[in-house]
Amino acid sequence: MLKRTHTCGELRKTDVGKEVVLNGWVSKRRDHGGLVFIDLRDRYGVTQVVFNPEQDEELHKASRDLRPEYVLAIKGNVSERPEGTVNPGLDTGEVEVYASELDVLSKAETPPFEIEEAGNVSMDLRLKYRYLDLRRPDMQRYFRFRHKLSQVIRQYFDTQDFLEIETPFLTRSTPEGARDYLVPSRISPGHFYALPQSPQLFKQILMMSGFDRYFQIVKCFRDEDLRAQRQPEFTQIDVEMSFVEEDDVMGTIEGLFVEIFEKLLGKKIKTPFQRLAYSESVRLYGSDAPDLRYDLSLKDITDISRTSEFKTFRNVVERGGIVRGINATGCCKDFSRKHLDELTAFVGEFGAKGLAWFKVENGGFSSPIAKFFPAEQQARIKECMQAATGDLLMFVADREKVVSQSLSQLRSRLAVRLGLIKKEEYAFTWITDFPLLEFDETLGRNVSIHHPFTSPRPEDVPAMEEKPLEVRARAYDIVLNGVELGGGSIRIHDPELQRRIFKLLNIDEATARERFGFLLEALKYGAPPHGGIALGLDRVVAMLLGLDDIKEVIAFPKTQRATCLLTDAPAGVDAEQLKELGLRTI
Ligand code: AMO
Ligand code: AMP
Repeated sequence: MLKRTHTCGELRKTDVGKEVVLNGWVSKRRDHGGLVFIDLRDRYGVTQVVFNPEQDEELHKASRDLRPEYVLAIKGNVSERPEGTVNPGLDTGEVEVYASELDVLSKAETPPFEIEEAGNVSMDLRLKYRYLDLRRPDMQRYFRFRHKLSQVIRQYFDTQDFLEIETPFLTRSTPEGARDYLVPSRISPGHFYALPQSPQLFKQILMMSGFDRYFQIVKCFRDEDLRAQRQPEFTQIDVEMSFVEEDDVMGTIEGLFVEIFEKLLGKKIKTPFQRLAYSESVRLYGSDAPDLRYDLSLKDITDISRTSEFKTFRNVVERGGIVRGINATGCCKDFSRKHLDELTAFVGEFGAKGLAWFKVENGGFSSPIAKFFPAEQQARIKECMQAATGDLLMFVADREKVVSQSLSQLRSRLAVRLGLIKKEEYAFTWITDFPLLEFDETLGRNVSIHHPFTSPRPEDVPAMEEKPLEVRARAYDIVLNGVELGGGSIRIHDPELQRRIFKLLNIDEATARERFGFLLEALKYGAPPHGGIALGLDRVVAMLLGLDDIKEVIAFPKTQRATCLLTDAPAGVDAEQLKELGLRTI
């Protein structure tokens, strides 16, 4: 085989005159009757190769049979491109290689899509032929970036005295709020391992073993409903530290982002990141992961609505609901009735029963429902919304959850429509002061907002059993441009307190012992105060590359239905295998 002397991204004007060997894939072939041009592609770039009939007739003839995606070895001479044919869009654009020898290392069938065009074909087709999709220069750039990011992360934690320690995949269930993926045991029939939803318990135990500062870049597995930002297996940057408080963990992660931005994007970011209490975040933005690149904050007119003649508002308030709205500044004219109907349907998808709106005009509000709002009320609403003539005010009246959900979505949609999102801006925020528990309506009991190992605030502990929903957690999330990148907490290191929390969660003594006995046991033998965090690596990579879908930055991702189109997993198994495992399918 002709072994390469250079990559396809390497040759420059200074190499003119050299004899080189390139290996790569045929990206394009152009036959100009006389000369045949091949763009040869590898991971490093593209180089133009020329076959000249006057130089070697036989070789020129052979070049006419080359097809896209053939794998070649080419020997040739580097020559300067003639004036007018330089390609400034290509790193190697000033040179070309005149072929003197050709070795076809591998032929290729016509691919189902042109590699360079794959950005426009359906995701399903891309996933089925992922090996072709991954040949695209953009994809190769994403994975180079992801690799570099992992190096920066490892280096950062290493210099901060963290140890990377692996934890098992075949383990017991760790509750992170999703379903487990189970693995049947052959040796213990009827028993199952659970793939970890996170290394949570192991990293806590490592603290009890004295490792003090742990990190791991690690796969986690969760059987949950999938969306653009979720995959059934994904990667966390998992961190745990001993003898720390919230500020220590948050400071460590801020330091990590400073390093990442500096080394990978050449940007300086300001720390400390701003902090926003959970309740404030929900009140102002309707969400615990707000995009703070723009304002469009929500305003509350519940009090004004209490005495309103507009029955819809008054009834909602009387039943304990709220009325909140958004001021789309200066949008009076831009939004037709049709647009407003569309927005009404849009908030409807998130449970809102309608969208009340007012256009603020010189003479007062204009809207089909303006007649229910006398001048004095209009003035109060205008003041509350900080509105001026020309503004468009939109409101949802409902239970707090519905109002928050629908207005938070409306806020994002308006921001896109009004062009308020600055692509180059990175708005980090910590969300703090989460409640420890929330009431789950489907389960009919309280559940942890983070996980059951999160420490409550010490001052809330005495009244924990009386007012469980008022207990605040020592938990924090990190949010960037409206995406939750990570979350963590200070943990419980007192076995008695851990037992009380299990009880609040309706996990009885026997179940707690059965499922978490090893943790409760370990807590008895000298557990340091500890805390940590986990960041979603896939999300971090996607955000920094400006991509919306984490599938773009996972080499072999799964579909929304958790299937792998490349391998056709999940798949049936042999009866023999099932028998060995003591299983039967229904
Ligand atoms: P949490 O469950 O918040 O915390 O997960 C941490 C981060 O992991 C990412 N993430 C996901 N990314 C892609 N696909 C998914 N299905 C998915 N689920 C979560 C998110 C999220 O913020 N053990 C705790 C951390 C701790 O307390 O230290 C935990 O796993 O970016
Ligand atoms: P209706 O009284 O149902 O004809 O509605 C009058 C206006 O109020 C319409 O613009 C509806 O979209 C809006 N509306 C109805 N219910 C709600 C609600 N719960 N919150 C906000 N606006 C609503």
